[in-house]
Amino acid sequence: MIRPHGTTITQLLLLSLLYVSVGFSSATPTYVTEYCENTTANEFFPNSSYQLNLNLVLSSLTSNASARNGFSNATAGQSNNTVYGLFLCRGDVTHDVCRNCVETASLEIIRRCPNRKVAYIWYDECMLRYSNLFIFSTINEVPGFSFSNSPNISDPDGFRELLIQVVNRLTNRVAFDPSVGKFTTGEYNFTSSQTLYSLAQCTPDLSANDCNRCLRGSIAQIPICCDGKQGAIILNPSCSLRYDMYPFFRVTAVTEVPSTTTTTNTSTGKGRNRSRTIVLIVIPLISVLVLLCAIFVSFRRKRKRAKAEDEVQMVDSLQMDFDTIKASTNNFADVNKLGEGGFGVVYKGRLLDGQEIAVKRLSRNSGQGEMQFKNEGALLAKLQHRNLVRLLGFCLEGEEKLLIYEFVYNKSLDHFLFDPIKRADLTWEKRYRIIVGVARGLLYLHEDSRHRIIHRDLKASNILLDAQMNPKIADFGMARLFVPDQIEGKTRRVVGTYGYMPPEYAIRGQFSVKSDAFSFGVLLLEIMTGQRNNAFYQTEQAEYLLTHAWRRWKDGAALELIDPTLHDHYSRHEVLKCFQIALLCVQEDVADRPTMSSVTLMLDSYSVTLALPSPPPFYIGSRTKSVIPAKKNESQGSESDQSASKVSPQSVGMSLTEVYPR
Ligand SMILES: *[C@@H]1O[C@H](CO)[C@@H](O)[C@H](O)[C@H]1NC(C)=O
Ligand SMILES: *[C@@H]1O[C@H](CO)[C@@H](O)[C@H](O)[C@H]1NC(C)=O
Ligand SMILES: *[C@@H]1O[C@H](CO)[C@@H](O)[C@H](O)[C@H]1NC(C)=O
Ligand SMILES: *[C@@H]1O[C@H](CO)[C@@H](O)[C@H](O)[C@H]1NC(C)=O
Ligand SMILES: *[C@@H]1O[C@H](CO)[C@@H](O)[C@H](O)[C@H]1NC(C)=O
Ligand SMILES: *[C@@H]1O[C@H](CO)[C@@H](O)[C@H](O)[C@H]1NC(C)=O
Ligand SMILES: *[C@@H]1O[C@H](CO)[C@@H](O)[C@H](O)[C@H]1NC(C)=O
Ligand SMILES: *[C@@H]1O[C@H](CO)[C@@H](O)[C@H](O)[C@H]1NC(C)=O
Repeated sequence: MIRPHGTTITQLLLLSLLYVSVGFSSATPTYVTEYCENTTANEFFPNSSYQLNLNLVLSSLTSNASARNGFSNATAGQSNNTVYGLFLCRGDVTHDVCRNCVETASLEIIRRCPNRKVAYIWYDECMLRYSNLFIFSTINEVPGFSFSNSPNISDPDGFRELLIQVVNRLTNRVAFDPSVGKFTTGEYNFTSSQTLYSLAQCTPDLSANDCNRCLRGSIAQIPICCDGKQGAIILNPSCSLRYDMYPFFRVTAVTEVPSTTTTTNTSTGKGRNRSRTIVLIVIPLISVLVLLCAIFVSFRRKRKRAKAEDEVQMVDSLQMDFDTIKASTNNFADVNKLGEGGFGVVYKGRLLDGQEIAVKRLSRNSGQGEMQFKNEGALLAKLQHRNLVRLLGFCLEGEEKLLIYEFVYNKSLDHFLFDPIKRADLTWEKRYRIIVGVARGLLYLHEDSRHRIIHRDLKASNILLDAQMNPKIADFGMARLFVPDQIEGKTRRVVGTYGYMPPEYAIRGQFSVKSDAFSFGVLLLEIMTGQRNNAFYQTEQAEYLLTHAWRRWKDGAALELIDPTLHDHYSRHEVLKCFQIALLCVQEDVADRPTMSSVTLMLDSYSVTLALPSPPPFYIGSRTKSVIPAKKNESQGSESDQSASKVSPQSVGMSLTEVYPR
């Protein structure tokens, strides 16, 4: 069998036609390609019963095209003369356009593929095919075609990252969200002036898993056919995937915004009388208000001045003497080194009075003025919670910037969790206490402190454990010290750790309390499984912890993933609850993730019914080590071996990254 996949047509001259088809979609449909199976065994004789049956099928399809909702199948004949046919219209086209396209297609297909028992034809607006074999409800990825739209993209790396996200997202929605009817489109901002338009569709008779598999196969084609190009069309009989930088589908109408003028209805009826009353009441009222405001403002000003003085005093009290601190760490001696993080090295120090401290020597120039640094430091010092490592003070001396923290007795959580011996110390009770503590600490950062702090780098190595194994979150507010941009929103400097970062932050720099919730979910899974989030990369069955966990949970086998060193000494109820909370936290859609206040509520309560999580993003970390052979060479091997090679969503995601090394 011939496999046109791979014989990629790189120059797609259809572009101009496609443009036209958007505006004038009820006109002639835009032809894309056809495929006629042309072995002699697949020929039929003119005026044979196959011919008659084919005519029946085609006319049934055309007559159904206006009645049915964009998809129909038809059968005619018996035994070896049976003809099976179907058509599928693009999900966004109107009935008229659909019928028009199917009519054209059913005439063209017999003209272009005379006397063929098996044929396919694709238009922009619809697809039509027939065969002598049963073709309904079965996945069919051959023949496949890919076309690229050749203008090169300006920022290929950024584009790829966005694209991976987008196609994964579309695929999840098309395959697993029954409400979309196996069709979806998306619009995503690429740059301020460029938008990525995307579309995915499966034939509605496919199962969710087959649809998913089909689109994953199409995604795997992207690096082969269309890398660096601004657009692509990837077609096969069961599904289609397409993206480009212009709207090639009907963009859904913008939700109507209610007019703001409708609220006023004063100019009716007894307007004049009313306005007099209004004057009589309003003017004295305003005078009183103005008076009150003046009093209030002057009062506040006084308080503010007092407060500002307090603040200056506080900042001063937090500032420590550099030489004292330096001496306490024995001149930053290596033996006193406790660890090293993204922002600098942490040393253990001992003050003259015997108090132990942890000193973080910031390595990077924060690019912040002295005053700003002091203010941020003062703010962080005000955050006091038993699940946060307390900031005692700071030092500024020339280029040197030090942060002085309380010393936490034990090491960080990762030292226990990922150590084959020490992890046995972490009983389920301890783990659960850590989980609850971290959730409370985060909640305090997000909501209870006066300043909303988003951690942005929550991970096992940032959870310190005190002598009683209570967790204390470290390194919060570091992003603020370095990137004094904003409390919530978008940043150009992504500070964080791959594997813990949600896609919207890693890729677009968008962060919010929900990005911390994502990291919390990852941490939760690590605590329960004892597996590093990225450890799965090293195994043969390279699977991302999140997707692995999700699949197991979905199969009702979540407990199989629980750290074996726990030996069943755990509360099933608590473990399953935490598992579900974790999956809720790592959902791809930011809006679906719970806030930390709902998380603590879920943890505290025994009776709360938890929502059902949607799948996590098929998100790709930085140190991908793909072990899945890239899915190419489609032109070799038989059809049966292709359908036998099960391509899991994860593996396709992985092979994509292999093609796109960072
Ligand atoms: C079948 O099609 C292929 C390419 O489409 C062509 O190379 C081949 O000659 C055709 N065979 C017949 C018998 O028409
Ligand atoms: C098929 O049948 C029609 C009439 O039924 C006839 O006009 C036509 O010549 C036939 N074609 C062939 C190739 O036998
Ligand atoms: C439409 O399709 C249904 C089966 O899918 C078939 O029973 C019906 O006859 C078709 N309608 C027409 C007008 O051919
Ligand atoms: C349409 O396909 C379904 C299977 O998906 C099959 O059961 C049904 O008979 C088909 N209808 C027609 C009219 O061929
Ligand atoms: C196809 O069907 C016809 C009559 O229905 C029969 O004569 C012929 O032997 C069949 N061919 C095959 C390959 O089954
Ligand atoms: C697009 O990129 C390819 C490969 O990098 C290059 O050969 C080609 O000249 C580029 N085309 C344009 C129009 O820039
Ligand atoms: C995309 O860009 C437009 C215009 O620049 C803006 O109005 C819109 O909010 C952006 N959408 C998203 C999701 O960022
Ligand atoms: C405006 O006033 C008229 C007459 O009093 C009334 O019929 C109408 O419902 C009002 N409209 C609104 C939006 O309140």
